[in-house]
Amino acid sequence: MRIAVTGATGVLGQEAVAALVAEGHEVTGVTRRERGVPVIEGRGASAVVADVFDAADLEQAFRGHDVVINALAKLPIGMAAMRPLAWREDDRLHLEASVAIAEAAARAGAGRLVQESTIFLYPDNGSDWIGEDEPLSVRNQAFRPRVREMRAAVDFAQGGRTAVILRLGQLFGRDPQTTHALKATREGQAILLGKPENYVTLLHHRDAGRAFVAALQAGSGFYNVGGEPITRRRWAKDLGTEAGIEGSAKFFPDLTQAIVGTRLDVQRRSLRVSSLRFMSETGWRPTIGPSTPGWSRM
Ligand SMILES: NC(=O)c1ccc[n+]([C@@H]2O[C@H](COP(=O)([O-])OP(=O)(O)OC[C@H]3O[C@@H](n4cnc5c(N)ncnc54)[C@H](OP(=O)(O)O)[C@@H]3O)[C@@H](O)[C@H]2O)c1
Repeated sequence: MRIAVTGATGVLGQEAVAALVAEGHEVTGVTRRERGVPVIEGRGASAVVADVFDAADLEQAFRGHDVVINALAKLPIGMAAMRPLAWREDDRLHLEASVAIAEAAARAGAGRLVQESTIFLYPDNGSDWIGEDEPLSVRNQAFRPRVREMRAAVDFAQGGRTAVILRLGQLFGRDPQTTHALKATREGQAILLGKPENYVTLLHHRDAGRAFVAALQAGSGFYNVGGEPITRRRWAKDLGTEAGIEGSAKFFPDLTQAIVGTRLDVQRRSLRVSSLRFMSETGWRPTIGPSTPGWSRM
């Protein structure tokens, strides 16, 4: 298939491009700047320079493609995320670029849109499982961009088109966010939010890339994508092991956790998320878990 990928130079997009190319698809990666071109070409795809906020520019880039995959995100790293302004770029990408992408994909004649989303929109559900039908906890204004993005994908599905919305688990791997967590762990600094008994649903970048390929088989709808949920206590241990220290990664004290603000508060939620629907519909399976030795170098 001919597939266009936005966010193709990002952590997630690069994995998606490589996985799609490996499956024999003809892939075009979108970047806003010339220096993104070799990154995309290095993954075996063609590159096109376009502005993701400009629907006309995008429509031209998407022409002749069967599928558009939107993997755009720009998350702040570490505790910088406590500053509301640190989310401005990410918000704009979801509120404006994702909408322009869905509209341009429809106008360009693509039959399928795969939209990256996140499990962090689910409410804290303790030790109970979370399926796709669980109502989201998105009342706060901070979640408006993600809700608007979902609506744009749902609108795309009108008129016989397919929209697949992937609610990805917490990404881990060789990326800046995890690298920061491992460094803090080695230095003995606190890095984890939530309670040790809370659940976390992780997704290795490699498996996330493969999920975008699997999404080509899925019907329109929302799908959770993650590995087997584990407790945060277990994740703390796995982080410690991968960081090469004796003990576990440390949790922030309660007082700090109480003032992290809405954006980081989602990371305190207990999210025991089931990916059964995605696995049974597409055959996708996670292959790298937090106890897989060397996961931060894969
Ligand atoms: N579910 C999760 O846990 C989750 C989800 C997403 C990200 N993350 C983590 O967050 C960290 C950062 O990754 P990321 O994907 O957010 O960022 P990133 O890897 O820096 O990628 C940003 C992408 O957005 C594109 N972009 C286009 N227009 C942009 C604009 N105006 N401003 C900023 N970027 C623009 C960039 O493309 P060009 O520069 O080529 O145009 C690039 O492809 C990683 O550690 C990742 O694992 C986690």
